Amino acid sequence: MTLARDGGTPVRDTPFPTFADASGRTFGPEEVAALADVVGRGTLWRVGGVEVAALEREFAAFLGLPHAVASTSGTAALHLAVAAVDPEPGDEVVVPPITDFGTVIAVLAAGAVPVFADVDPVTGCLTPETVEAAITDRTRAVIVVHLFGGPAPVDGIARICRARNVTVIEDCAQAYLTESQGLAGLTDSRGLAGTRGDIGCFSLQQSKHITAGDGGLTVTADPHLAGRMRLFADKGWPRDTNERTHLFLGFNYRMTELVGAVARVQLTRLTGVVDARRAVARRLNDGLDGLPGLTTPTLDGHSFWLYPLVVDPAVLGTNREFGAALVAEGLPVTPGYLDRPVHLVPALTERRTFGTSGFPLTSPPASRDMRYARGDCPVAERMIDETLLVVACNERFTDTDVADLVEGITKVHAAFTTN
Ligand SMILES: Cc1ncc(COP(=O)(O)O)c(C=O)c1O
Repeated sequence: MTLARDGGTPVRDTPFPTFADASGRTFGPEEVAALADVVGRGTLWRVGGVEVAALEREFAAFLGLPHAVASTSGTAALHLAVAAVDPEPGDEVVVPPITDFGTVIAVLAAGAVPVFADVDPVTGCLTPETVEAAITDRTRAVIVVHLFGGPAPVDGIARICRARNVTVIEDCAQAYLTESQGLAGLTDSRGLAGTRGDIGCFSLQQSKHITAGDGGLTVTADPHLAGRMRLFADKGWPRDTNERTHLFLGFNYRMTELVGAVARVQLTRLTGVVDARRAVARRLNDGLDGLPGLTTPTLDGHSFWLYPLVVDPAVLGTNREFGAALVAEGLPVTPGYLDRPVHLVPALTERRTFGTSGFPLTSPPASRDMRYARGDCPVAERMIDETLLVVACNERFTDTDVADLVEGITKVHAAFTTN
């Protein structure tokens, strides 16, 4: 069959459901009613409101933790986490190179230095070995990203960190209901991503499993960290004392009641959304497992924010070549996921942080002059340039959508392996 790339008929000529609009989002009249209630009450900010406070209680209970603090985005949720650790300027936070830049923004905004550790070549997640090699006596925290919803080995990383007094922050922006590696199938919610480290961070941005447009949630079992996060998200202002004072530098990251109300309804839909995405992924694996040169994701514990494939360039050409042929067939595929790993974005390579100071990447305050360059994380760089291919995953995909994905990938695979 002639590939669409070469003038053939594409497998698919209509759009797939997408997170960008109602076609791929799970909303109902309950969200509308919740918004109307808030407007009717007239309290649209969280101070004196009921929705955000209830969301915090409900989300914490959902994960089996005592504390959740709401904020305005996943990036803010991560900023709360790093700020709660309270690093000295130039202290280090270990991060992975395959993630949204929000992970790194949180570190820089707290005056700390991102130190990149390399990743596993199939999952794209940090490993205990790469984290251990990146830890120095200036390391205060590690941010473990459960990439695409796949479980990073957070327990192994936490063992290394606890021995060195390093805080483990889980970035779960892509990982609602992800189950920790080795614990899949546990009914105890303590196995969920976000509960294995010291702090877990979630996003309610448009593309996530559940959304209120934008928003963030940070969870912890530690009352001291929770107290700092709560103050940090509200200008350092201890409102419960009735004093108008500011105990330390904080920001206004307050979630509004409108966002809180929608997020509460979305939370009731989360289990259904993740179950549906897991069913899509299972059927994709059934259709694609065993194709030479293509590695499908392990289902255990994965919550499939996206469906990642790894191609062997020796068999299929690079992800960019193979992926371009899939896109031509009308499939929602992004070769490489990112244009470049985050250690290579200009904000870091050209130190565009605070004016022309280079702060905090200069020494002092950093222990060494921080330079970010190609070659720092060869596994991640190869994944993005040559092997990683992400396929959209959505709870609204129909049987036809899944069948078209399998047909398109199989068609391109056949053409690339017989030429
Ligand atoms: C892994 C990861 N971390 C952090 C973020 C930042 O979240 P937000 O876009 O809500 O600020 C995102 C989402 O974009 C993400 O996918």
